[in-house]
Amino acid sequence: MSLRIGDEAPNFTADTTEGEINFHEYLGDSWGVLFSHPKDFTPVCTTELGEAARLKPEFDKRNVKVIGLSVDPTDSHHEWAKDIEETQGTALNFPVIADKDKKVADLYDMIHPNASDTFTVRSVFVIGPDKKVKLTLTYPASTGRNFDEVLRVIDSLQLTAKHSVATPVNWKVGDDVIIVPAVTNEQAKEKFPDGWNEIKPYLRVVAQPK
Ligand code: BEZ
Repeated sequence: MSLRIGDEAPNFTADTTEGEINFHEYLGDSWGVLFSHPKDFTPVCTTELGEAARLKPEFDKRNVKVIGLSVDPTDSHHEWAKDIEETQGTALNFPVIADKDKKVADLYDMIHPNASDTFTVRSVFVIGPDKKVKLTLTYPASTGRNFDEVLRVIDSLQLTAKHSVATPVNWKVGDDVIIVPAVTNEQAKEKFPDGWNEIKPYLRVVAQPK
């Protein structure tokens, strides 16, 4: 069965471009992004891995550890890494799982047989420090993902975790946020002493907490 938001992210050990990794140990107390690639030496994946590597400082700022996956062996990953650096201008700076027996792909339901029996789809799992799945995204092989969106969701998840707020449509860092319905007005007075804008009793807008 596929993983759902709130489920524990299954642990595994796997060969990667940075040696054998125990997934939960690799994550430690950090947030995590696990994302799959259909195959080595494919064009869209090459651009995605270059972009994820370029954004490493942004992931680091948010205490997020990134890990990729492709169902090819490590020596193939190492060869492909040279092309990624050459064509995208950034060297890989996070591990890529060599999932040649598709163990992790099966565990995370990354192979969708009606799309392909052999390639994974483009899955993204954002995992919290509690090892619970916070977000799942699934893209077809032909569509490259938007890593700015992945960072945006992480910003939203981290705000929610800290401040009992939710983020409205098209929210980006610095925009106003919404007080979650579970917080009563009495509690909101404590949390947001500068007040909020009550558009409806269920729609309470407040400046983004620092
Ligand atoms: C790609 O990464 O470019 C790709 C992989 C599989 C199918 C289509 C595109």
